[in-house]
Amino acid sequence: MGTFITFEGPEGAGKTSVARRIAERLQGAGHHVLLTREPGGTPIGDQIRRILLAHHNTAMTPEAEILLFSASRAQLVREVIRPALAQGAVVLCDRYADSTLAYQGYGRGLDVDALRQITAFATGGLAPDLTVLLDVTPEVGLARRRRAGRSGEEWNRLDDEELEFYERVRAGYLALAEAEPGRWRVVDATGSPDRVTEEVWRLVEACLRARGLTLPGPPGGQSG
Ligand code: TYD
Repeated sequence: MGTFITFEGPEGAGKTSVARRIAERLQGAGHHVLLTREPGGTPIGDQIRRILLAHHNTAMTPEAEILLFSASRAQLVREVIRPALAQGAVVLCDRYADSTLAYQGYGRGLDVDALRQITAFATGGLAPDLTVLLDVTPEVGLARRRRAGRSGEEWNRLDDEELEFYERVRAGYLALAEAEPGRWRVVDATGSPDRVTEEVWRLVEACLRARGLTLPGPPGGQSG
């Protein structure tokens, strides 16, 4: 059985680039790695992603939104994540079920316990071994996101929220992390990408070590 690691955090926290760097480093150390993301990660999930993020879908109800995120997740778990774990891979996922609790639950104010039930159905109960929360204030995250938006990255429907929404999402993430300290690690993501990656790398290494999974790394090179 492999190891399942998820990356959570607000927009502009740098999850995507940190996850990519960690994936490269793990590969360099000889691990079988699978990097994926939500929503999406499968052909069906990518179609659902387009519906979720399209600007013209302003009429989408919060309930429909949850079910679409969950549908994408259900597909990803069965088509990609579980098979990779069964082969012993380290699976890195850029967002997972906790995003639903943080965004739809704490952010939109939907019942968190109901969301947990929907999420448990969608994932078949598959929980991460480690969840890294890249924590930044909404001000920092949104400013980064806007800069990225201008340089070509797409600004999507879910980016059109008020600052208060992102404040609730952040508070939600911190509450989730506090409630389950065995699984979550909180990293201050205001620093440089290099520093943040270094800190996350140490957490990932510790998780793998605890599972008896370290590899020596490439001959003659450093282990990461
Ligand atoms: P994406 O462009 O992947 O954003 P990011 O780079 O911040 O991950 O868009 C995903 C958006 O979907 C993001 O705003 C968070 C939101 N989201 C939810 O609201 N609920 C969920 O369950 C998931 C997986 C994502």
